[in-house]
Amino acid sequence: GTIYVLNGPNLNLLGKRQPEIYGSETLADVEAAAKAQAGAHGLTIRFLQSNAEHQLIDWIHEARDNAAAIVINPAAYTHTSVAILDALNTFDGPVIEVHISNVHKREEFRHHSFVSLRADGVIAGCGTQGYLLAIDRVARLIAAAD
Ligand code: DQA
Repeated sequence: GTIYVLNGPNLNLLGKRQPEIYGSETLADVEAAAKAQAGAHGLTIRFLQSNAEHQLIDWIHEARDNAAAIVINPAAYTHTSVAILDALNTFDGPVIEVHISNVHKREEFRHHSFVSLRADGVIAGCGTQGYLLAIDRVARLIAAAD
């Protein structure tokens, strides 16, 4: 199976952007680690990032036919996007929401997530390791569904 790992706005600057909050690893580092983690479970990854809401929605639509699961860090769209929630609601497989930082420890506006209304699990505050934890989780959910 293939896991779509989707990343929202500003995550292209991971490693350079507020490293005191998000760490010094780049998104390319996360992609490499995610691919290795998925490989250990016999799964493959399609790892994508966009700053555009419509692109993330189009990838979720593509995932409907091509993905066994979605891992998504919607970044700021977490807190604003009914459209991404609606797109995820068209997807039948497991969805895990990831946040590098602990959003609950931060500003009030980061405490609410539209995406959590669909997500089967949420990982926040585990740094970039959260992506690997999410992959372990979807591997188990995919195996349980087979
Ligand atoms: C984030 C948290 C969001 O509140 C923020 O807008 C991001 C990144 C995280 O990974 O911690 O861009 O999703």
